[in-house]
Amino acid sequence: MKTEIIPLHEDGSKEEEAIIARGAEFIREGKLVVFPTETVYGLGGNALDAEAAKKIYAAKGRPSDNPLIIHIADIGDAEHYCETSDLFYRLACAFWPGPLTMIMKKKPCIPDSVTGGMDTVAVRLPSNPTANTLIRLAGVPIAAPSANLSGHPSPTTKEHVIFDLDGRVDMILAGNPADIGLESTVIKLEDDRVILLRPGGVTYEDLCTLLGKDHVTVDRIVLEKVTGDFKPISPGMKYRHYAPKAPVILLNGTEEAILAAMKEKQKTEPGAAFLIYDEDKPDFEGCTAVTIGPRNDPAMQAHRLFACLRAFDDMENVTVIYARIPGREGIGLAVYNRLAKAAGFTVQDV
Ligand code: TXA
Ligand code: MG
Repeated sequence: MKTEIIPLHEDGSKEEEAIIARGAEFIREGKLVVFPTETVYGLGGNALDAEAAKKIYAAKGRPSDNPLIIHIADIGDAEHYCETSDLFYRLACAFWPGPLTMIMKKKPCIPDSVTGGMDTVAVRLPSNPTANTLIRLAGVPIAAPSANLSGHPSPTTKEHVIFDLDGRVDMILAGNPADIGLESTVIKLEDDRVILLRPGGVTYEDLCTLLGKDHVTVDRIVLEKVTGDFKPISPGMKYRHYAPKAPVILLNGTEEAILAAMKEKQKTEPGAAFLIYDEDKPDFEGCTAVTIGPRNDPAMQAHRLFACLRAFDDMENVTVIYARIPGREGIGLAVYNRLAKAAGFTVQDV
């Protein structure tokens, strides 16, 4: 398939709106359009069209039991597609538009192929203006998983998208790098409480502040490796994700102990590569290392994590990647979750 790759400055100009309008037309015709959002790029198709959903799974190489998020342009649109509630409106008013996805009972107009046969649907209202314009002009909700090949880290830049999906989709709206850089927070709404299934830019603390701590549960899949018969609430969370080619090992210990361990590994393990803070650079000269951002800036670490994981794949002779175990406060929980998944939750105490 020939992919139209269209560069966008995302400047809000009339010219760019006309380009986005063509993308919207593509969506209505059942075609696939990649578009930027504030979290990561999305691979979009008409969420009311069962065939479009099938094309999305094929383009990504994704198992079809893993449901898609539908993206809407106005809070009021949600009730057409799912059973809304007071809890939904409280959360939507607080956090939409933005990086929060809410799972609720679906209405019949959403095809089973979009939800992987589940009776619930995940809904999000993105804040990125290009995404918002595309959805509004399409006039239909847009089903969109992250625009990566299944198993690769989610794409945060147009280069990642083009690398993964050129030739597999009809159009790529090649805009700016994603602001947040990690996928949206996913929660399931149940009566008067929510279950956190995937941490993201709307943090656990944000949810607790709005709803009270007793009304927010963190699903164990966020924090630990689950195996055997465990049936996750969210099918996607059971797949191995975000993994670079070389195995990742998280180091746990005091700051001094971790640095000492990394220096030792530099000498004794020739294939070792390191994910480090900007401040560490002087200690890693001549080593295979990728910097993720300043030590005390978890938002920057979130923004850069997926690009860092992709960078390790471009390096020669990397046999193992060592990283510090991230702190779990605020957006740090999302960084921890993605890195821990990349590591298969392998932790070495030092
Ligand atoms: O930030 C994001 O959420 C991006 C952008 C494009 O919006 N999208 C994204 O989609 O990350 P995806 O498909 O890569 O991840 C959606 C996750 C999957 O793990 C899926 O299993 C889960 O949400 N999910 C979707 N619908 C669900 C449902 N009805 N019940 C449980 N989990 C669901
Ligand atoms: Mg994804």
